[in-house]
Amino acid sequence: MKLPEKGEAWPALEQALHDAKARDHSWRKGRMAVFFYYLDEELERVGQDAYRLFWTENHLGAGRAFPSLAKLEGEVVSMALDLVHAPEGAGGTMTSGGSESIFLAMLAAREKSGGKTGGNVVMPDTAHLTFDRACWYLGLEARRVPVGADRRGDVAAMEAACDEGTVAIVGSAPCYPFGTVDPIRELGALAQRRGAWLHVDACVGGFINPFLSGLPEWDFAVPGVSSISADIHKHGMAPKGASLLLVRDEALRRFHRFESRAWARGLYAAYTAQGTRPGGAVAAAWAVMRFLGRAGYRDCAERVMRARAIIVAAVEAIPGLEALPGQHAILVYRSTDPALPIAAVAEGLERRGWLVSRQVEPEGIHLHLNPLHAEVAEEYVAALREAAAEARGAGAARAKEEVRAY
Ligand SMILES: Cc1ncc(COP(=O)(O)O)c(C=O)c1O
Repeated sequence: MKLPEKGEAWPALEQALHDAKARDHSWRKGRMAVFFYYLDEELERVGQDAYRLFWTENHLGAGRAFPSLAKLEGEVVSMALDLVHAPEGAGGTMTSGGSESIFLAMLAAREKSGGKTGGNVVMPDTAHLTFDRACWYLGLEARRVPVGADRRGDVAAMEAACDEGTVAIVGSAPCYPFGTVDPIRELGALAQRRGAWLHVDACVGGFINPFLSGLPEWDFAVPGVSSISADIHKHGMAPKGASLLLVRDEALRRFHRFESRAWARGLYAAYTAQGTRPGGAVAAAWAVMRFLGRAGYRDCAERVMRARAIIVAAVEAIPGLEALPGQHAILVYRSTDPALPIAAVAEGLERRGWLVSRQVEPEGIHLHLNPLHAEVAEEYVAALREAAAEARGAGAARAKEEVRAY
């Protein structure tokens, strides 16, 4: 396509956009368990209206032109710090997403330990691949350490992987592949022994962990935790483009602050990888957090757990399928029977209109549940029962296919 010489009328463009969407998977029907978070139309409107009110304000100008955005960001940060038991004097920065929060955390860890490339980051091998991406950008080595049988970080093995070059240790709360929470208290002690930065990746968990019962400790209440990434655009339920990097001490923020005067325009400083930043994402996050409050997030967490319970019960009732142990929004199930290939189950679900997110190791089906799934869990399990019955007849040995992770 070439840029048209003359502009086109909006109604035709709007229609073209609707047409373009027609072949997309409909998250509105809840028929996918990846990529989206949804509660209801009321919350959708709050996010959209708040975004629209600030749709072209630029957060880069928050200091002078748009003091409103500085205030809103400050309030988002302080509400989040309160949720994660931050001590007096803690700080934080809004970012565009989990990847940017993690990138900045790794940058800060590197800069705090002298700013040299060639160091390493020690993490369980369940940590999000974003850490490897951040290490690649920053000239660090990602040291992935196999997790224990419980699929949680193996602290002794992680300690053995640390050396003089270790700039950061990572734990997830929870990890994306399995939804397990690493032993953060023990990792905090390890980080303190080594004088290393401990980053807790709560991109998934930041806004749901506080409302789940039975989780191990994971936040700033644990000594030794230096920073936490928490995505407002995941279980924070806000429109996309909103995450937080929270630090135990406001003074640590200087380690991810860029500052230079090396051009004709004088001082340029930024705490984020982005320069121009959408004010709408800040306003929408602020409004969604205020609109939901603790009670709203508790309700979201309950819906997620209800969906989980319905799906786990159905999986366990199908001979040959098994749900991996867990207690979070992330649920993985697999086949224990060679006559019931999980790939065939996945295909059966896809034929019934569900977008299936596959797991490679162990081969299985991965679900990241959000509140909308409570409404469609029964539909899902009905489709699963049919898909499993069909798959049982589909024969055993199948070639392993490449699975795309997200
Ligand atoms: C645990 C965890 N960390 C980090 C990320 C990266 O977040 P984003 O996709 O917002 O950059 C994800 C994304 O799913 C995640 O699940």
